Amino acid sequence: MSKNKTLSIFGRKKRSGEKIVLLTAYDLTSALIARDGGVDALLVGDSLGMVIQGHDTTLPVTVEDVLYHCRAVARARPGLPVIADLPYGSFHVSPGDTVRHALRLVKEGGVAGVKIEGGRKRRAVIEALLAAEIPVMGHLGLTPQSIHKLGGYKVQGRGRGASDLMVDEALFLEEVGCFSLVLECIPAELGRRITEAVNIPTIGIGAGPGCDGQVLVFHDLLGLFSGLQPRFVKRYAELGQTAVAAVQEYCREVRTGAFPGPEHSFTDASLESTAAAEGAAEPEPQVRPAGYLASCEREQED
Ligand code: KIV
Repeated sequence: MSKNKTLSIFGRKKRSGEKIVLLTAYDLTSALIARDGGVDALLVGDSLGMVIQGHDTTLPVTVEDVLYHCRAVARARPGLPVIADLPYGSFHVSPGDTVRHALRLVKEGGVAGVKIEGGRKRRAVIEALLAAEIPVMGHLGLTPQSIHKLGGYKVQGRGRGASDLMVDEALFLEEVGCFSLVLECIPAELGRRITEAVNIPTIGIGAGPGCDGQVLVFHDLLGLFSGLQPRFVKRYAELGQTAVAAVQEYCREVRTGAFPGPEHSFTDASLESTAAAEGAAEPEPQVRPAGYLASCEREQED
């Protein structure tokens, strides 16, 4: 049996110069696909508010929402470190409140660490989380929870002043004790500069090739989400189109009577001799049903 990986993989890979690969996951299926694809860690991002819940921003996401998805990811037992986003409002009131929320994610959601958006102004909450033994990942650049303040989904850190400030914020996050740092939607030069300035691994998303690792949203990578398409997203598949075509084919087959056929149907064993006598041999199922249907099959076998 392979050993479970831990957050130590971040430091180890930074030191060895190997890239760190993260992907978001929100449920059992996405966690298993990400694990089988070979990622190093999973992020239960508050992007779930957009790609799963259908909101226009991540702002409505609650701790309960994140917890629900963390539990589903944990049931996959991915053997990888899972990091959860602290959603908007969960760390803005007080350090005590923040720790209570994060403890739920660790104790009930099985996560190894939390991600928190913002720099220096998060000092008190980051220190409180670390005092509660909860590893913290920082997040600078385009921080979607500040969308109203930033005035839209725009590239951050352009110009000497803004880029110097972000390097300073990154150094602060390292000094306060973050184990890693997400850099979102900043110029590639700044992504590289921050990566060279800090000793903790930087995880880029729209921050150029100079970061220590990358993260993408599961639905974006697979081409499942047809909403906002930021420039930094690379779609490695067009599963959304494939899925629509599959559903169209399903509709057609049901409407024409082509599905379900005998190979997808069950028979009553007590009638087998009659069926055999009539020359209607029971066809073997061609494909073992998965998920919900597998339990129907088990019931039938019992
Ligand atoms: O919410 C999220 O998924 C994120 C990543 C894209 C960094 O914050």
